[in-house]
Amino acid sequence: MDRKKVIAGNWKMNMTAAEGAQLIADLKANCGGACGCCSAPEVMVFPPFTTIAAVQEAAKGTPLVVGAQNVHWATNGAFTGEISAKMLVEMGVNYVIIGHSERRQYFGETDETVNQRVKAALAAGMKVILCIGETLEEREKGVTEAVLEKQVRWDLADITKEQLENIILAYEPVWAIGTGKTATNEQAQEVHAFVRALIGKMYCPVCAGKIRILYGGSMKPANAEGLLAQPDIDGGLIGGAALKAADFIALVKAAC
Ligand code: PGA
Repeated sequence: MDRKKVIAGNWKMNMTAAEGAQLIADLKANCGGACGCCSAPEVMVFPPFTTIAAVQEAAKGTPLVVGAQNVHWATNGAFTGEISAKMLVEMGVNYVIIGHSERRQYFGETDETVNQRVKAALAAGMKVILCIGETLEEREKGVTEAVLEKQVRWDLADITKEQLENIILAYEPVWAIGTGKTATNEQAQEVHAFVRALIGKMYCPVCAGKIRILYGGSMKPANAEGLLAQPDIDGGLIGGAALKAADFIALVKAAC
């Protein structure tokens, strides 16, 4: 199955509007103007909410997708500090990351709230990058697959086969995020194959063949090629290395 690769930069709580616009200018200047370098991968960036507008402006005329890092499940209401899908769509944001492990770890995100957010985003016509991943403790206990299966089944509860077409999964082992430790090519491939097979069981074999599963966790130019060469790895969700134009461009090129 031919799946278009994705290189997505998760900027986390980095980059003011001015800094974000500068990073896009640097990407454009060094990326042949199109910020795609080649037409093969889909290239996306996920700035903080307050930086989105400046990045959209800077990315005008390029195929760069500008998304958000989170979304609430209600359309509006008394949810201080939250942003709804309707608000994002109004500003032309059509992609959102949901369930990142930092949200789960530090902000009380559960599979139930992840599922609510996914449903709300899809209902608003958005596309989702849904993050899953095990902690080091879970890996050492040998329960990685059980943990991931629980996350996938909960997070995708009530999501139909048709809706699944608007979801990209990101496998991000928690122990590899921002730590400099990367899963080996084999470790990552093994999990990706497991998750793909699980989608096959939950939905259909064609669905499993179509869904894109990104790897995330200290992906950088030095290790990207090996990871991206794995048959079930369809791209990367990149934190640290997405903040430097040269590194991000190298990652895009590795996916070409
Ligand atoms: P990292 O972050 O590349 O800095 O490890 C990845 C992520 O959290 O999406």
